[in-house]
Parts: sequence; structure tokens; C-alpha cells
Amino acid sequence: MTRFTVAIDGPAAAGKGTISKAVAAHFGFAHLDTGLLYRAVGAKVLTGVDPVRAAKALTAQDLGGDLRTPEVAQAASRVAVLPDVRAALVTFQRDFALREGGAVLDGRDIGTVICPDAQVKLFVTASAAVRAERRFLELLDKGLDVTREEVLADVIARDTRDRERAEAPLKPADDAVVIDTSDMNIEDAVGAAVAQVQKGLGLT
Ligand code: DC
Repeated sequence: MTRFTVAIDGPAAAGKGTISKAVAAHFGFAHLDTGLLYRAVGAKVLTGVDPVRAAKALTAQDLGGDLRTPEVAQAASRVAVLPDVRAALVTFQRDFALREGGAVLDGRDIGTVICPDAQVKLFVTASAAVRAERRFLELLDKGLDVTREEVLADVIARDTRDRERAEAPLKPADDAVVIDTSDMNIEDAVGAAVAQVQKGLGLT
């Protein structure tokens, strides 16, 4: 096998990250969490840097550090509405998708804009209440001082901004398979995703 791309999109805290990592590990593919690119730009903007300048100057080193805070998530969602920021991040993502040996990219617009020719497209979703509860427990586990209400409000604000923006809005590609994880445990969700990739590879 040479090039094989799996596009996994969906709203915040639907389980995309866990599923993408597990799928990549299962098939030996590389994995790119594209949300980290927007989070890294958002984090720079919080320190006063211009968003487009930050996106153009982004390097792999900027993807380390703690980008998984609610402030950075909101800043990421705000910079993600800017067409020039999105444009500056396209080449990095497409180059990653076309590497030898297979790649999994997760984000909001992978199946629709970044990799419209991906061999497998999944749209992983869950109800806002379920996603907020999962994110709440994750943030508590990290020792952050947050309430359920704050996390739900954050998730809803981010989803609304991500879905309603003009450029590359969050939506399933016409040919995406939707996996609703609201009533699934993580093993079942990973199993459903792995089964779709096996089908895409012609293994079933
Ligand atoms: O996946 P995440 O929660 O880390 O993403 C953070 C924000 O980045 C998200 O609210 C919207 C934006 N984003 C995007 O617009 N396009 C992507 N492919 C990935 C993330």
C-alpha cells in the first residue's frame, strides 16, 4: 500500500481524537490532529500575535505544550473562521495526508476541503450533552477548575461558530459515514471506525 487517507471530522469532544489514534495504531498509519494547528495559532493570538502571521509561521515545535485548555480551544475556533488562516494551513495538512504508508487526519473539514479524495471519510458525532460531559470529566482529570455548565456553554459556542462559518464549515461530506457515539463506549466506537477502514482497504 502506498497512499491511503482516512478523514475523520466531527464536532468538539465527539471522540474523534481517541478514534483517530486507535485507527492509526491499528493500521500503522500516521496521525495528524489538525485541531492542534488551529489551537497553536489561537495560543499565539492570545499572546498578541496577528493570526495570519502566526498561521504562516507555524512549525512542528508550536504543536507541543499545553494547547488543550478551554481558552485556547475558543481562540482556535475564532481564528478558524479566517480564510487566510485556513489557507496558510492547507499545504501542511495535504502533504501529511499524501505521505507514504497511510494517514489519518482528524478535524472539521478534512473530508470536505482538505482531502476530498480520501478513501475513507467518517463523521464522528454525539449529542452536545454527552460531549460536554466527556470534556468536563477530561478537564477535571487534568485538574482544571471548571463547571459542567461552563463546559456545555463552551462546547455549544464552539460548535455554533464552527458550523456557521462561511469558510469550510463543520459538516459531514456527502460520502461520509456518520458514527454517532452518544450511546457507544469507546471500544465500540473504535470498532465501528476500524470496520469502515477495513472496508475501504478492501479487507472485508
Ligand atoms: O479539534 P479541536 O477541538 O482541537 O479544534 C479546535 C478548533 O479548531 C475547533 O473549534 C475549530 C478549529 N478547527 C477547524 O476549524 N478545522 C479543523 N480541521 C480542525 C479544527
